Amino acid sequence: MFNKLCIIGVGLIGGSVARAARKNKLCATVSAYGREQDLENLQRAQDLKVIDSYSLDLAEAIAGADCVVIATPVGAMQDILKQLAANWSEQTLYMDVGSTKGHVVIALNEVFGFLPGNFVPAHPIAGAEKSGVDAAMDDLFLGRRLILTPDKQADKAFVQLATEFWQGLGSHIAFMQVEQHDAILAATSHLPHVLAFALVSVLGKNDEKVETLKYASGGFKDFTRIASSDPTMWLDICMANKQHIIPLIEQLSSELDAVKLMLEANQSQQLHDTFTYARNTRERFLEQHNNMTQSITFTVQPGGHLQGQVRLPGDKSISHRSIMLGSIAEGVTHVSGFLEGDDALATLRAFQAMGVKIEGPDKGEVTIHGVGLDGLQAPEEPIYLGNSGTSMRLLCGLLAGQKFDATLTGDASLSGRPMRRVIDPLSIMGAKIESTEKGTAPLTIRGQKSLQGIHYDMPIASAQVKSCLMLAGLYAQGETSVTEPAPTRDHTERMLSGFAHPVKQSDNLVTVSRQGALKATDIDVPSDISSAAFFLVGASIAPDSDLTLKHVGINPTRTGVIDILRLMGANIELMNERTVGGEPVADIRVRSADLKGIAIPEEFVALAIDEFPVLFVAAACATGQTVLTGAKELRVKESDRIQVMADGLQILGVDAQPTEDGMVIQGGAIGGGSVISHGDHRIAMAFSMAALRATDTIVIQDCENVNTSFPGFAELTEGLGLNISAQES
Ligand code: S3P
Repeated sequence: MFNKLCIIGVGLIGGSVARAARKNKLCATVSAYGREQDLENLQRAQDLKVIDSYSLDLAEAIAGADCVVIATPVGAMQDILKQLAANWSEQTLYMDVGSTKGHVVIALNEVFGFLPGNFVPAHPIAGAEKSGVDAAMDDLFLGRRLILTPDKQADKAFVQLATEFWQGLGSHIAFMQVEQHDAILAATSHLPHVLAFALVSVLGKNDEKVETLKYASGGFKDFTRIASSDPTMWLDICMANKQHIIPLIEQLSSELDAVKLMLEANQSQQLHDTFTYARNTRERFLEQHNNMTQSITFTVQPGGHLQGQVRLPGDKSISHRSIMLGSIAEGVTHVSGFLEGDDALATLRAFQAMGVKIEGPDKGEVTIHGVGLDGLQAPEEPIYLGNSGTSMRLLCGLLAGQKFDATLTGDASLSGRPMRRVIDPLSIMGAKIESTEKGTAPLTIRGQKSLQGIHYDMPIASAQVKSCLMLAGLYAQGETSVTEPAPTRDHTERMLSGFAHPVKQSDNLVTVSRQGALKATDIDVPSDISSAAFFLVGASIAPDSDLTLKHVGINPTRTGVIDILRLMGANIELMNERTVGGEPVADIRVRSADLKGIAIPEEFVALAIDEFPVLFVAAACATGQTVLTGAKELRVKESDRIQVMADGLQILGVDAQPTEDGMVIQGGAIGGGSVISHGDHRIAMAFSMAALRATDTIVIQDCENVNTSFPGFAELTEGLGLNISAQES
């Protein structure tokens, strides 16, 4: 991959990068730079064959290097960059591996006056309390998270190169913004280090007076392991990220003060609650951590076709709403066809945490023992919603009308998604919702607020915002009405009617008010047209395909994908159309067709909002040019779907040009390559389908979140003719 890799600072991390790069044959030679005082260490690195050569002269060390990794303590960054700037090469990939990223951006700006496109900040979430080159390991990054925080202006080719390099070392790549990275790391890594150092200092001072530590055992050793870390390195990290660390120290101090007061006042119940809360939180962390560190890669061989008949998993939007409305209804609601994906399960667990008895899911069957509009109970802990935007936004509305406070959290993707779109109108209704400064999760929704109905003219076409306000409207005084700039999915409206709760609808206006109890009902969830979309495209683009998708929801607010594909020339037939539980359903037959590029009419955007990743794949296989406009919302979905799809398609050799609110794609051949889904389920599944028309293997990284909407995707799709395999690591 590289001819010459140069490591600046050959300690534990720098040495491990060198060792791992050599082991994985990612570079021909490794050079290193260090200062006078590092001479012995550099010599040792050479003796250990971690590096081939070194120099005390930076220019000499980096001469001819096509990849430079800065692995010095964070505080040395500016100085190193100044020296590098004098010998900067536009052809070289530069990366740092520091634990804070804000300081890198500051240093780059100071030295260059801008952020060079070929600098990609990287942070391997890996380490050991040992330091120095002797501790360097060639598998330090294997199976570990690696966070990249490239600037928006960064050169895509270099970001891809960086990605492939770290993947080559075995890391799972995640992308984050600098600020988000530093805030998260302050809480999860920097504060624990500060605490470990402080605790050991206290005990050390005591030990000088009375021998104490010789009686310490496993608990002390486990808790303080990280206090053996390199003090210079941690001094630098703490100074560089103090703006995030100090508020956390203050929070910790008041928690300790609270514990002290509980002890003084013999408040054993409170103390017990505090300890229980912490223990439960840790257990939840361990569970999530195990899921998170598991990474799934899809490898899809080129060619194949899709044939047969299949019933796909249940509709995600309807599954969420079935739990929400079933929980606040009176009586027992039976749901069949429930989507057992992580997103809908997050909603199910949230209501269980608020005291609702929910049985299942068992083969899609769920029984909800509704508690009535005012029967929910305060959750004991923050509610973790994983990747699910629908859970978070709809719950905001529903929780705004409760008597209790609740906090909603989510994974890195959900924590970066805009929530002001619900916070703002809910606040006008009288709700009190606390968020981060950027208007993102965690969100704390304060209870005991009396809500007032409003009329809201929605600036964006969002079913989540509309549904959120309708749910809040069930708890507000007077009428709550929403107008939408374009039609969006109306499952909340339909389901409320199914629960015998009146909803007024005219043109683009929907109105609700509190009108007695919701009455439990039975819900038959159809297959999700958003999941069907992958097969509509897959069977259209793959020669000799003939596939029938059974019992798919064809609510007209969701069928934009069919309209768009038909405009492109697809052969899609709706059969056996019927209405099931208030939702229109059909069997859909799709056969191969020659697609042609089109200008996608903007009126279809909201009606196909989740289907664009796979529609871009259809466009890549079509003859001629496809243009999408008016779809800016795609930038704030589970990932920035415009950028991520354009990047991936370009890797596969497709001419795909992202625009601010859409994409321009020239249809043609699809090659092979390794693409990243950025943890976005629909990106992962879209690229899987691209393989049907690719000339070479497509590898898709980061596919674990396919489980959010389509558990069993790889197995099911393989059965229909796609040559796909999923590997866990
Ligand atoms: C959804 C609405 C849409 C969609 C999401 C599910 C819903 O989001 O993208 O996957 O169930 O209401 P927006 O309302 O943000 O467009």
